[in-house]
Amino acid sequence: MRSEVREWIEAALDATGEQTEIELVGDMIRDIPARVFSELLGVDAEKHAAFISRISEESVRIFEMDPELAGPSTAAWSELTRWVDELLEIHEPGTPDANVLDHMLAQKAMGKMSDEDIRVSLVTLLAASTDTTQILAGLMFTSFLDNPDQWQRLREDPSLVPSAVTEAARYRPGDAWIFRVATVDKEIAGVPVYAGDHVFALIGAAHRDPAVFTNPEIFDIGRTGERLPLNWGVGRHFCLGRMFAVMELEEMLRATSARWVTIEHSDPAAAREASYLDAGTSVHIRVTPAN
Ligand code: HEM
Repeated sequence: MRSEVREWIEAALDATGEQTEIELVGDMIRDIPARVFSELLGVDAEKHAAFISRISEESVRIFEMDPELAGPSTAAWSELTRWVDELLEIHEPGTPDANVLDHMLAQKAMGKMSDEDIRVSLVTLLAASTDTTQILAGLMFTSFLDNPDQWQRLREDPSLVPSAVTEAARYRPGDAWIFRVATVDKEIAGVPVYAGDHVFALIGAAHRDPAVFTNPEIFDIGRTGERLPLNWGVGRHFCLGRMFAVMELEEMLRATSARWVTIEHSDPAAAREASYLDAGTSVHIRVTPAN
């Protein structure tokens, strides 16, 4: 899917024309994970991507733990479930492995999945894939905005794109923790954990551990040979879509660093006020285009 993603990104950037003031999330980032999700699912990206990205953004706000957001977020979940139900009604089953939906329908035909399994899986997949990638992309660009020397380094050596994405994921992970329920009693780093306990592993802290990363507070896109960041989990439930997210981020970085000599916050005061995760909804920048 890399070539398609590249085309979508270039088209989004072309659409910004001669603009030097750009809102990165709305102008480019938001559409890409939603389009990838549409393709995986087997639905028309042109028709559905805008809905998918909106619903993804609204539904995951439940995790902000703000009671005011509970109503709108629950409404978004219901809207999403209705959309999946309609999709299941109108979708003509195709080749079993053509896409995720056809694969699931083939499983259903074999009696291995129910409609409810499919509905829950699709809703979960949407939440797992779109907003996560969008937030990490926004945070990746804010790391470059705060470290212009690394932007210059990337422009001079585009072969650093893959390690730059890894470093961006370490430096500012979108998801700050991984959640587990202990199945046995165990001591972790001197802390007793008992079977049934809920454990939140703070990966944001682990990513700045000086025992693991050299100069962890420094954003260094040339890091090699160090531990991979934990953004995508560990073990049995390791993220199934990591390669999609990484590929999308790589292509965003490749396209923008080729086009823009410099990037800076267009409103530095507002950027200072913004919360960490605001980068998932908007990143206002000013760019100097290359010729
Ligand atoms: C930056 C983007 C992403 C982040 C940070 C992320 C993060 C995660 C994390 C932390 C887990 C749980 C791992 C664990 O508990 O050990 C997970 C699981 C999962 N992710 Fe992702 N993910 C991303 C993108 C995607 C994409 C693009 C897809 C699909 C196209 C996807 C599909 C899944 C699925 C299906 C699981 C469940 C795996 C299982 O339980 O066996 N994710 N992801």
